[in-house]
Amino acid sequence: MRRSYSERELALPETDPIGAFKIWLKEASEVPSIVEANAMVLSTLGSEEIISSRTVLLKDVTEAGFTFFTNYNSRKAQALELNSQVSLLFPWYPIERQVIVQGYASKVSAEESDAYFQSRPWSSQIGAWASQQSAPLANREELENRFKGAAEKWPEGSKVPTPPHWGGYLVTPFTIEFWQGRYSRLHDRIRFERSQNSGEISCDWNANRYYP
Ligand SMILES: Cc1cc2nc3c(=O)[nH]c(=O)nc-3n(C[C@H](O)[C@H](O)[C@H](O)COP(=O)(O)O)c2cc1C
Repeated sequence: MRRSYSERELALPETDPIGAFKIWLKEASEVPSIVEANAMVLSTLGSEEIISSRTVLLKDVTEAGFTFFTNYNSRKAQALELNSQVSLLFPWYPIERQVIVQGYASKVSAEESDAYFQSRPWSSQIGAWASQQSAPLANREELENRFKGAAEKWPEGSKVPTPPHWGGYLVTPFTIEFWQGRYSRLHDRIRFERSQNSGEISCDWNANRYYP
């Protein structure tokens, strides 16, 4: 796998990075050693200019951008209140590929969050009610008791309401960079950029090659 990918030239459609990303995501998800091809490292800039990173799962990608779901009271959500700029990194090491996205995160509509929450398994729904994500937790028992409490309130089979503190973010990209490992460290690296004018991101992408 490693050898064949190293010999593959990076040929990307000049103006369609989202289409190219979808192809790469599909190819990554077909590689058995990549267990969660949709896992991405989300970096945010919080208070006092401190950067923090964590993994989240990509749940949708469209022309509008990249969507993930989380707790709206979490540390990442607090950071996003202060600064909506984010970086997303997809590390597909077994196929010597990486994609890095820079963009702005904004909350998706309550309807969209609700539709996704209602598609989740019951235990994940109860878990979302039980977890006060990123808040201090005295011990494991406290978390399990909160889970039991929520499970008694909404037994398996009943409709679990979407917690008000839970929902999605859409990352609207302004750069998408594709990296393909190649022979002799002569890797391919292509960055798509779109211009921004007083907060408005243009629809058109420009592709440029960079030294690896
Ligand atoms: C493979 C993997 C997938 C994850 N997916 C999510 C996710 O989709 N949403 C989420 O809120 N946390 C997810 N997490 C947990 C986050 O990495 C993180 O611990 C949590 O969101 C709290 O982050 P914060 O305190 O910086 O807000 C995932 C962790 C891993 C390892």
